[in-house]
Amino acid sequence: MKHDIVEKNIGLMIVLTLIAMSFGGLAQVVPLFFIQSTTTPIEGLKPLPALVLEGRDIYIREGCHVCHTQMIRPFRSETERYGHYSVAGEQVYEHPFLWGSKRTGPDVARVGGRYSDEWHLAHLYNPRDVVPVSNMPGFPWLFENIVTGEDTAAKMTALRKVGVPYTDSDIANAATPFVGGGVNEADALVAYLQQLGTLIKQKR
Ligand code: HEC
Repeated sequence: MKHDIVEKNIGLMIVLTLIAMSFGGLAQVVPLFFIQSTTTPIEGLKPLPALVLEGRDIYIREGCHVCHTQMIRPFRSETERYGHYSVAGEQVYEHPFLWGSKRTGPDVARVGGRYSDEWHLAHLYNPRDVVPVSNMPGFPWLFENIVTGEDTAAKMTALRKVGVPYTDSDIANAATPFVGGGVNEADALVAYLQQLGTLIKQKR
């Protein structure tokens, strides 16, 4: 029987298995490129402003996404705690996505506006100053490091190449928030946190 050949030849079996699986993958992935709700930005979605963009890069560099998800699932247990579930249209300008997969800490997809800037700064410096039982690490160096903004225009240009609609004037003015000595990293990170998920509001 022909099937014997496949079953007795592990190399061939692997190749054929991969081909079979890739059909499944394609059937799941390809439609997402064409479904409007996954490709259309939600109302009011704009490319991240310079300071916020730099804050996002600090969030990535410090590995915040390793302990925090940005993906509220459509379950009551999640929406009661975190707010409206995450929708694809909020994410169309995200490169890379920061959905995460592990919640050592809470989901932060809609943390914007939940706390004051002062709370975030204190929390980032030493979480236990505001949440005594916290096991989140402190990030005191963010208060010494300065964002100069010298790379911000290049970052925007790169993001524009993958479809984020930065305008020429966004790029030309990318360094404006940093003039006069730059901004400390903690402030840039807080600017990023404070806008997370704020385009969709729901009573929590
Ligand atoms: C080792 C895991 C870990 C890392 C890394 C981590 N966190 Fe946390 N985070 C936690 C835990 C646990 C909590 C819950 C206790 C608390 O509020 O401090 C938390 C809470 C928070 C909260 C409050 C969320 C809420 O809804 O109450 C914010 C905001 C936050 N973290 C931001 C950050 C940022 C920004 C970074 C990166 C600079 C970061 N975290 C890195 C574990 C982590």
